Amino acid sequence: MKKVLTIYGTRPEAIKVAPVIRALEADSRFHGVVAATGQHREMLDQVNGVFRIVPDYDLDIFSPGQTLNAIVAKVVNRLDPILEREQPDAVIVQGDTSTVAAASLAAFYRHIPVVHLEAGLRSGDIHSPFPEEANRRITTQIASLHLTPTQTNRTNLIREHVDPKQITVTGNTVIDALLYTVGIHVPVRQKAVSRLLNSEGPILLVTSHRRENLGDPMSRVGRAVAALARRYRDLKVLLPAHLNPSVRQHLLPPLLGIPNVTVCEPLPYGEFTRVLQAATIVLTDSGGLQEEAPALGKPVLVLRDNTERPEAITAGTARLVGTDPETIIDQVSGLLEDPAQYAAMAKATNPYGDGTAAIRCVAAIAHMLGVGIRQPDFIWTSDSQQQRQPVLV
Ligand code: UD1
Ligand code: UDP
Repeated sequence: MKKVLTIYGTRPEAIKVAPVIRALEADSRFHGVVAATGQHREMLDQVNGVFRIVPDYDLDIFSPGQTLNAIVAKVVNRLDPILEREQPDAVIVQGDTSTVAAASLAAFYRHIPVVHLEAGLRSGDIHSPFPEEANRRITTQIASLHLTPTQTNRTNLIREHVDPKQITVTGNTVIDALLYTVGIHVPVRQKAVSRLLNSEGPILLVTSHRRENLGDPMSRVGRAVAALARRYRDLKVLLPAHLNPSVRQHLLPPLLGIPNVTVCEPLPYGEFTRVLQAATIVLTDSGGLQEEAPALGKPVLVLRDNTERPEAITAGTARLVGTDPETIIDQVSGLLEDPAQYAAMAKATNPYGDGTAAIRCVAAIAHMLGVGIRQPDFIWTSDSQQQRQPVLV
C-alpha cells in the first residue's frame, strides 16, 4: 500500500483536494494521510465540514495579518517533523498559495515526490496574480507529477520544458466538488441570504480578495457595485466578504446603507453553491469562481486585467473587466438590459472538467508510484458536460 500525504491550507485548496482525498480513501492501493496547514482558519474549517474531512494533522499556523514569509517559515518548520514521521511515498499539493510553495519545498528537501494538482496555470506575469504566479512556477520546478486541468495548462508546461511523461490532463477537481455539493442541496442557514434567495429580481454575486486588488482597485469595485445597486433597484447584490480586514476596509464602505446590497460573512461551501446556482451574474476576482460559474451557466465578469484561466473566456462565459468603475457598470448593465447578450454568455460550458477529475488524479498517482497503468488524458469537448456524474463517495 502506498502512503500519500495531502497538504492544504486555504479555502480553495480544501475544496479542490476534497474529491482527491475521498477518492484515495476509497482506493485499496493507498493509505491517505491529510495535513491542514491552517493558513486559513474559519474559512478552511467551513469546507472540511461539508466534505466530512478530518485532517490527521493541523499545523495551526494561522495568525491574523501574518506576512507571506511568516506563512512559509511556519509551514516548512511544522511540516518537516510530519514528513519525517510519516515517510510518505508522495505528497499532494493543490494550486498556487504560499502553503503550496512551502509544502512542496519541504517535501522536495526530504526527497519525497511532489504531486501538483491544478498545475500549468499561467498568467504570464510573475507579479500578477501576486504571489500566486510565482508560487505555481516554483512548484512546477519541484514537482514530479503535474496534474493539469486543461490541455492549455499542459501546453504551458511543455513550453517550459516539463517532461510530457510527467504530465496528465485530469480536468479540475473543483468541478467534482461543485457537482457533488450542488447535488446534496445544502440548506441555507443565514436568514438574510435565504430571504434574498426567496425574493424576486436578478442577483449580482460579488466576491473579491486578490492581493493586487487591495487598496484603490477594491475601492473602485465597491463604488461600481454601489452605483449598480442604485441604478437597478430590483437588483439584489450579495457580497460574502472575505475575512481579510483590508478587503473589508476598501470594498465595503461605499456599499453601506444601500437597501438592495447584502453583505454577509463567508458562506460555507454548500450554502455558497446554492447562491451560485441562483445568481444571475458573478462579479469576482476569484480563481475558483472563474471555473465554477461557467459550469453552472453563470456569466462571470472577472475583476482582473489578466487571467491564468483563459478557457472560459474563449468559451464566451467569462470576460475580463478589470477594476475601472465605468467598465464594470457598463458590462453589468449590458448583461442586465440585453437578453441576447445575457443568453450568449449564460450557456453552461465546462472547459475545466466533467466531474471525474479526482479519479483521473488518483490513476495518475498510482501510475507514478508503480501500482497502476497510465490512463488517457481528459479532453474537453462540448459534450463533456453531458457526462456529469458526481462521483464523490
Ligand atoms: C490566500 C492565498 C490566495 C488565495 C486565497 C483564497 C496566499 C499568498 N494567498 O489569500 O492565493 O486565492 O487565500 O481565499 O497564499 N483571514 C481570517 N480567517 C481566515 C482566512 C483569512 O481572518 O480563515 C484573514 C486574516 O486576517 C489573514 C488575511 O485574511 O491575515 C489574509 O489571509 P492569507 O491567507 O494571508 O491570504 P489571502 O488573501 O486569504
Ligand atoms: N466560496 C465559498 N464561500 C464564499 C465564497 C467563496 O465557499 O463565501 C468558494 C467558491 O465557491 C470557490 C472558492 O471558495 O470554490 C474560491 O475561494 P477564493 O475566492 O477565496 O480563492 P481563489 O479561488 O481565488 O484562490
